Amino acid sequence: MIERIFPDPSVLSAAALEHELLAPAPERGRSGTPWVSFNFISSIDGAASLDGLSGQLGNAWDQRVFSLLRQSADVIVVGAQTIRAEGYGGELLSKTAQAWREENWLSTHPPLAIVSGTLNLDAELAVFTQAPVRPLILTLESAPQGRKDALAKVAEIVTVGTDSLDVELIISKLTARGLVRIHSEGGPTLLGTFAEAGKVDELCLTISPLLVGGSAGRISRGPAAPHTARHTADHASAAAGMTLARIMKADSMLFLRYVRSTDH
Ligand SMILES: NC(=O)c1ccc[n+]([C@@H]2O[C@H](COP(=O)([O-])OP(=O)(O)OC[C@H]3O[C@@H](n4cnc5c(N)ncnc54)[C@H](OP(=O)(O)O)[C@@H]3O)[C@@H](O)[C@H]2O)c1
Repeated sequence: MIERIFPDPSVLSAAALEHELLAPAPERGRSGTPWVSFNFISSIDGAASLDGLSGQLGNAWDQRVFSLLRQSADVIVVGAQTIRAEGYGGELLSKTAQAWREENWLSTHPPLAIVSGTLNLDAELAVFTQAPVRPLILTLESAPQGRKDALAKVAEIVTVGTDSLDVELIISKLTARGLVRIHSEGGPTLLGTFAEAGKVDELCLTISPLLVGGSAGRISRGPAAPHTARHTADHASAAAGMTLARIMKADSMLFLRYVRSTDH
């Protein structure tokens, strides 16, 4: 059983859960306005992975929420390290989800947009060879030309910065392609990059009832190199306030939805 605790407490049927998670964010402005959402899972002691993967933190409810959150996206943005760790080969949506998209005037498959500064990605990866639609690769002008040429055979290369990633350029280039519901599934470096740029509109966070211990990182971290213009900014003043918009619960797992505070 999954229930909404806030707002309007209610046990959610499968249909009600779908309705809740597939609806466009009510906080978003006009329909053409870009909206950047992230979805993450963390253990209660703050680990973003278990044995190097996030899936181990979840359960069937988390899988359901994860799938529904990606279902209505125009594009799914993922950092290259998550692709290298988790794979992402093949179709990202079930046949039922694909049919829902077609009924709702969306493309059958949302394209994947992979963020990579170095382009250290093999063109033979399943994420390219088994992709139902050509992925985008969001990269830098400074990335090695040979890798750009190799990957251009399997993906569309989009330049989103010279030596450092320009998050506003990512959003504007995706929006120019009509990809305005920008949904990201991480990982932590990508969330850190968007957070530092002040461009996270929504964060859905599953809290998994596990004490993982060990040295796993948290859901957000700064890039290793000063990739973004705001990297050196005072973090305390740059930290973005978020407002709690929904709490759901299934057994001991919590599903939180935060949106960017408008008064910040
Ligand atoms: N708990 C969760 O919900 C969750 C979600 C997703 C992933 N994860 C876990 O997180 C781990 C991976 O995390 P991660 O932080 O290392 O990976 P990530 O954010 O998925 O990817 C990092 C990579 O993306 C590119 N990138 C991201 N920001 C960049 C920037 N500002 N400038 C240039 N390139 C940038 C770089 O690619 P290049 O190296 O190719 O240049 C960078 O190495 C995995 O263990 C995965 O399982 C957990």
